[in-house]
Amino acid sequence: MRIIKTKDYQELSKVAADIIAAQVRLKPTSVLGLATGSTPIGLYKELIRQCSEEKLDFSQVVSYNLDEYVGLSPDNDQSYRYFMDHNLFNHIDIERKNTHLLSGTAEDLEAEATAYDEAIAAVGGLDLQLLGMGNNGHIGFNEPADHFTDVTNVIDLAESTIEANSRFFSDKSQVPRRAITLGYRHIMQARLVLMVVSGEAKAETLAKVIKGEISPRVPASILRLHPNVIVVADEAALSQVGDL
Ligand code: GLP
Repeated sequence: MRIIKTKDYQELSKVAADIIAAQVRLKPTSVLGLATGSTPIGLYKELIRQCSEEKLDFSQVVSYNLDEYVGLSPDNDQSYRYFMDHNLFNHIDIERKNTHLLSGTAEDLEAEATAYDEAIAAVGGLDLQLLGMGNNGHIGFNEPADHFTDVTNVIDLAESTIEANSRFFSDKSQVPRRAITLGYRHIMQARLVLMVVSGEAKAETLAKVIKGEISPRVPASILRLHPNVIVVADEAALSQVGDL
């Protein structure tokens, strides 16, 4: 696990965007695993800038997002499809047909999950998986649990996640209770994993991820078993890790 410490969120966004841009420039047909949440917004803005000012080209890129809320349709402004369209896809030259998200309104969510895993396998897996990290250490919506679930699956959101994500909804009762998330298999099989973590609220969990026990109780800790992980985190997020 390589850790890049940045002084603040702005620098984090630039460093992380440059890693993704390098991936896309070196392999224009890259398959990217993308993430939502507030942390990637700055790096998406930087990618949009590089696309318009520095000829970064997404026209052959294929993307698969990590997760989606169950029950929210793509036109719901809290759905992750809506988030991705507005924060990235509408502003770059990626082909819409190449952008994939799990459907939270699929009639058969299990079939949706299986088809998603198969589709990622069929394109040869993910070249780069971008991850944020929840306050409780979740990646995608893989919440703390008794075991790591390999396949894409439907999960019950942790109470702390519902609480944390309620800031985007009019009130807590509006937050979906379930989500569909990529399992650990495709995350761990990605050729490069890039995790971005910002802010003091994540510091205690990030210290556990980096130095604590590798456990499904701290989902992101599994990344220490991956051979090619870069964590880009700001000073505040790394404030409880001690010496690196
Ligand atoms: C959501 C997403 C995660 C994301 C997390 C952290 O729960 N499902 O993929 O990492 O939020 O979000 P933020 O970056 O806003 O702290």
